[in-house]
Amino acid sequence: MQREKELAAEAAASLVEDGMSVGLGTGSTVACLLPILAARRLSIRCIATSPHTEEIARQLGMRVEPFTDIANLDMAIDGADQITPDGWLVKGGGAAHTREKLVAITTARFVVIADSSKPVDVLSGPLPVELLAFGLGSTLRRLGNVTLRDLPPSPDGGIIGDYHGPLDEPRATATRLSSTPGIIEHGLFPPEMVSTAIIGRGEQVEVRNYPRS
Ligand code: 5RP
Repeated sequence: MQREKELAAEAAASLVEDGMSVGLGTGSTVACLLPILAARRLSIRCIATSPHTEEIARQLGMRVEPFTDIANLDMAIDGADQITPDGWLVKGGGAAHTREKLVAITTARFVVIADSSKPVDVLSGPLPVELLAFGLGSTLRRLGNVTLRDLPPSPDGGIIGDYHGPLDEPRATATRLSSTPGIIEHGLFPPEMVSTAIIGRGEQVEVRNYPRS
């Protein structure tokens, strides 16, 4: 799997051009991307979706800026836990899905990198969720089917858990979760958020382009 992650990361890094603003995701596939991208020595401005990614990127000499005043990004590159043929993603295995989704909707081009274990025919749980600490018991009761992870709060103070309900109708589930008070964000990313998925398969990469590409 490591080689497949590296191949996907190399292909994605080659899409980045001098002068771009780039969102950097979180996870082991992004960890492959960072040194490859840094080695290109491009003049780019980066936004990191987690303190861990930010730390590694800075150590590699990349310019990482706070995501406060920036309203547009040229490209974001991130991993995924599941990818369906029509472009639905489950993300948040690394508990960074809230920041990752904000970066994904900000960028002109959202590129997903993955090894060959990530494509699936249909999504299945668990689905990562980030919950507001205030009213947590109420949110858990209303949602049902949520377990909390034994993790410290997210960098934004959210409580990380997993939703175990069905995901066979992802749009309906995403709509329900997004409209549930107490949920900060869930890990369902719709196809309209995704431009391209680059999937390492053996010594090859499979490139899937979605409507946003
Ligand atoms: C973090 C994520 C990751 O991108 C996702 O979990 C994939 O991680 P990895 O590349 O380690 O398989 O969504 O919140």
